[in-house]
Amino acid sequence: MVIKKIHSMYGHGQIHFLQTLIDRVPSPIFYKDIHGYYLGCNKAFEDYHGIEREKLIGKNDAEIAKNHEKAFLYKTIDSDLLRYPGTRKYETSIKHPNGSERSVIIEEAAFTDMAGNVAGIVGVINDITEMKSAEKERIRVSKLESLGVLAGGIAHDFNNILAMILGNITLAKIYGGVNTEKLQHLLESAEQAVIRAKELTRQLLTFSKGGTPVKRIMPIQELLKSATAFTLAGTDIKSEFDISPDLPAVEIDENQISQVIGNIVLNAQQAMPHGGTVNIRAENIVFGNTGGSFEKGHYIKISISDQGIGIPEEYLDMVFDPYFTTKEQSGLGLSICYSIIQKHQGHIGVESTLGIGTTFVIYLPVVQIQQRTGLQTKKTIVMNGNGKILVMDDEETIRDIVGDILQYLGYTVDFARNGEEAINLYSSKPYDAVILDLTIPGGMGGKEAIRHLLDIDPAVKAIVSSGYSNDPIMSDYTKYGFKGVIVKPYTIHEISNVLRNVIS
Ligand SMILES: Nc1ncnc2c1ncn2[C@@H]1O[C@H](COP(=O)(O)OP(=O)(O)O)[C@@H](O)[C@H]1O
Ligand SMILES: [Mg+2]
Repeated sequence: MVIKKIHSMYGHGQIHFLQTLIDRVPSPIFYKDIHGYYLGCNKAFEDYHGIEREKLIGKNDAEIAKNHEKAFLYKTIDSDLLRYPGTRKYETSIKHPNGSERSVIIEEAAFTDMAGNVAGIVGVINDITEMKSAEKERIRVSKLESLGVLAGGIAHDFNNILAMILGNITLAKIYGGVNTEKLQHLLESAEQAVIRAKELTRQLLTFSKGGTPVKRIMPIQELLKSATAFTLAGTDIKSEFDISPDLPAVEIDENQISQVIGNIVLNAQQAMPHGGTVNIRAENIVFGNTGGSFEKGHYIKISISDQGIGIPEEYLDMVFDPYFTTKEQSGLGLSICYSIIQKHQGHIGVESTLGIGTTFVIYLPVVQIQQRTGLQTKKTIVMNGNGKILVMDDEETIRDIVGDILQYLGYTVDFARNGEEAINLYSSKPYDAVILDLTIPGGMGGKEAIRHLLDIDPAVKAIVSSGYSNDPIMSDYTKYGFKGVIVKPYTIHEISNVLRNVIS
């Protein structure tokens, strides 16, 4: 009956010709009437669905699809197409008669009869399963390649650091009893190497989930100046600043943003081999509803410009890619910047003219509620103190070292190996501050311990400490009732500062 209808619509000869034609097409093709009943299909469709054309014709999806959800999906899209004729393209999956699940893109269009009325739907199925798995494979290969480059770089850096530590320790053993001045010097070099190792881990962590910034609200003026000065020290490049006097404070991870400024200034310096000036501008800017990628609101805009070699236009899109380099260097600098700025809900971009110079622009959102507590700037002096401190850490060496440092600073120290011990100690006598390790393998860690301590003493001054700032608690510590945060390994300056801030 349906066949007769379509034959009368288009003529027998024409249909025969079209059928022969579409049977030669390797992609499955089908056509249905306006009520969703199949009018026909090609050979590829028969094979793809394991159904003969004669059995298909006159049936709808609900009758032939084994999956009701799928039938419903087709019906919804078809009726939309019939109501608003045109074309539709969508991705879905189809169960092949051989049992495999195929990824497909279905393209449909409404067709009309001789009188120009919508008479049904034609559809073509494009199987993209192979394409998809090839794409997955390609991504895996490129990930592995990236990993290889990264691992090579880390192994190289780490080896150098270990060589420094080992060498200095060996020498320290030799000079130990004889030359205390020399010994001091050797230990300082070893300490420097450890700081470099810490620096390296931090850099790498910015790429991982562990790179969550540990933010505080602070003015950025000094940071811009010190990060620039640090990077340009010993070079013939000058720096000029143009910083708006009413620049608001921003909520940032000080170390990470210093790294961003440092990386960009370093590139600027490398782009000006014959010397020159790096210009750093910082100003306020407000975005309304731009509809772009910016959330509306207040930002500070930092522009860093050089008069260097510039970046060829075809590279502009690539400079933020990891390992993209024209200098046979790591090529990680700008990708780290990108990742850090993203994690600060900011934006980073670049403009460049070959032979004229390059400007990198960073936008950082301004926090609206300014908390006073965050406004202290980092002090580099060691601050002595007094009071009783409870240190919870599962590692004995860490407890010993922290104990020594705190005693040196003037504090008295008790130790706990896990949350239970810390709670017991705290309930028998009060402490001026507690330093809690975030995770204790096989025991109660800082996150749970703080809840019990707050029950015992709502005013407990607890500092959370962890090796990797990869837990949201580290960036959001106040929410959990901590008064301070410190990332291991920490320096004597850092711990003395945190303790002073928390206790005072
Ligand atoms: N200020 C600049 N002037 C010219 N080219 C730059 C500048 N900054 C970055 N580039 C280009 O971007 C590339 C990637 O930079 P980066 O990620 O820091 O890696 P690296 O400096 O290790 O090559 C550089 O190799 C260089 O080609
Ligand atoms: Mg660089």
